[in-house]
Order: sequence, then C-alpha cells, then structure tokens
Amino acid sequence: MTLSRTLLAIESSCDETAAAVIREDGKVLSSVVASQAYLHEKFGGVVPEVASRAHLERILPVIDQAMKEAQQTLSELSAIAVMTEPGLVGSLLVGLTAAKALSWSLGIPLIPLNHIEAHIYACEMQTDQSIFPCIGFVVSGGHSNLYDCQSATEFRLLGSTIDDAAGEAFDKVARILNLPYPGGPAVAELASKGDPKAIAFPRPLLHDKRLAFSFSGLKTAVMYEAFGVPGSHKPVPELTDQRRADIAASFQAAVVDVLVKKCEQSLKLSKHKTLCVGGGVACNSMLRERLAHSSQQQGYRLEMAPGDLCTDNAAMGAIAWQLFAANRFGNLDLDVSPGLVRAGD
Ligand code: KG4
Ligand code: ZN
Repeated sequence: MTLSRTLLAIESSCDETAAAVIREDGKVLSSVVASQAYLHEKFGGVVPEVASRAHLERILPVIDQAMKEAQQTLSELSAIAVMTEPGLVGSLLVGLTAAKALSWSLGIPLIPLNHIEAHIYACEMQTDQSIFPCIGFVVSGGHSNLYDCQSATEFRLLGSTIDDAAGEAFDKVARILNLPYPGGPAVAELASKGDPKAIAFPRPLLHDKRLAFSFSGLKTAVMYEAFGVPGSHKPVPELTDQRRADIAASFQAAVVDVLVKKCEQSLKLSKHKTLCVGGGVACNSMLRERLAHSSQQQGYRLEMAPGDLCTDNAAMGAIAWQLFAANRFGNLDLDVSPGLVRAGD
C-alpha cells in the first residue's frame, strides 16, 4: 500500500457545495466550500429548489478548485467519494451525478458516504488516538442524532429528535429575535450579552429516559416570551436589546442543558468512554465549555470536531478511505437516500 493515493470527496447535501482531495493517510490536501447561505437568508431557511440550482452552478468550479489547490490531476485520483444520504434530494443528486460521471470516465471506484457519519468522523481527523468505540453526537441544522459507533464502518442510531433539530431551533429563534440566517452564530453572539437565568424556558425531555430530543415546544415558548401568548391579555414587556439578549441567553442555556444531559445519558447506557461531537451546533462555545466540564467531572474522553470541520464540508469525507479498505463501493445504479435510513439497523 502506498501513501500517495488520493481520492476526491464531494458534498452537496444541503446548502454548501464542497469538494476535498484527501490522501490515503488522511491528510487533507485541499478543502473547498462554497456556501449558499446568502441565497437562503431572505427566506430564513434553505429553499430546496434554490439549493439544487445553486449546486448545479457551483459543483464543477468547486471540484476544479479543489483539484488545483491539491496540485492533483483527475487521472491521479484513486476513487471518488460522495455524500448520498441524508439531505435534500435535488441537492444530493447533483453531487452524486458529478461523482458517477467522474468515477465512470476515470474508471475508478465510487464510494457512497453518509453525511452524518462523516460529521462524527471529523473528530477522528484531529487525533492520533482512534475515537472508536464511542458515542457519536451530531448536532446540526437537520439532525440531533446520537450513535453507538463501533468503528468507522459500524454506526447504530441510538436516538434523534422527534421534531426540530437543535440547529433548526437556533435558526427559528434567530428569526423571532430578528437576527440573520443561519441563526446559530447570531443567537450565540447575542446570548453572550444576556442573562442565561433570566427566563426559565422548558428543558424538553430532560428527565425522560428515552434518548430523544424535542425542540419545537421550546421555540414556541421563546415566541410567546417575545410576543405574548395569543389571546392572552397579559402585558408583554417591551422587546428591548437587553430583553432580546436575555431571551437568547436563556434559550441557549435550555438547549445546551438538554444536549449535555443526553450525551451523559448515552455514555452511561452504552458504557462507552469516549464522546465525539460534530455538526454545525458543535461550534457553539457554551456547548463546548459545558461538555468539556462534563467530561472532566464524569471522566470520559471528549473529542469535538474543529470549527471548520463542524459545519458542512467535504474534508470529513476522509472517512471514505475506511470504506475503501472495507470494499464498500457503489455501482453506477447508486441512488440518494434523502431520509435517515440507518435507524436501528
Ligand atoms: O452541520 P451544518 O453546517 O449543516 C447541516 O448539516 O445542517 O449545521 C448548520 C447549523 C445551522 O442550524 C446553524 O444555525 C448551526 O448549525 N450553528 C450553530 C452555531 N454555528 C452554526 N448553532 C449554535 N451555535 C453556533 N455557534
Ligand atoms: Zn451537516
């Protein structure tokens, strides 16, 4: 086995078009991410049709740039990896079609990737000591998923959200507080100026034995706090800058309390000694601090993906080399799976 083999990984599952060239030893030679956030901002969320059209425009320039930055030619690649699940169907199809065309024309293997598993694998990329076996936690705009991870090819879903994902709740609360999209960073910034104890927002399912999340009621509680309960004559305090900051801080504290507790619960249940956290919400400073504190208190190893590997990217497609070694290749009849199909399998 030589260490000079490289593969191209492609990501287009949601609103980022990304490509990366990754060497067999895991070194990322290039990682290009073209965000479409500004296209979706006025809608306050990702519009699927707008996203897939934007992927179509960007996919080839993004691949070209990744190849250039890695100083590689297409003929030097040994495989093409592509995120095929979960995500927006039209968006996933753009990446898959590009990947199939490259794989077929270059005569090299095609490797289908699960985007959520790649988010967890991002933690493996920053450490010399393998993260497996571990609890993998992906907190993003679309998912709040806990996994039992035995290896880079064995992930079992333990629990997820029954309604909104954590990042989705941040994005919706940002709209309520008149903050820009994506809402997570903006809510976190405003929260740093507020009092997290100002409002006692509900901590959904905090004491529930199930490894499940629910954030849609919390979002409604934030709306009622900001604008009053419909039909109620109770006066609502003016939404001053300080009150907005207090609402943001109290909301963030409620979400983080639940996320940390469910991580601790799954570690206890599984008996794993390592927790790996990825996905956009893992950029949140309060969550990072609280998990660091929890790992010290409870004596487990914590690995959090670095900031640039938390939000969507193709470099986390480095997991493809593990699948390559396990002969997990796709054919040209490979299709996308927009929904999460791994639950309980
Ligand atoms: O993983 P990601 O880039 O895309 C998905 O796969 O969904 O995650 C994006 C999500 C958005 O909902 C965004 O608001 C949230 O991550 N996010 C944050 C922070 N940075 C990004 N949420 C809370 N605090 C942050 N600092
Ligand atoms: Zn993601």
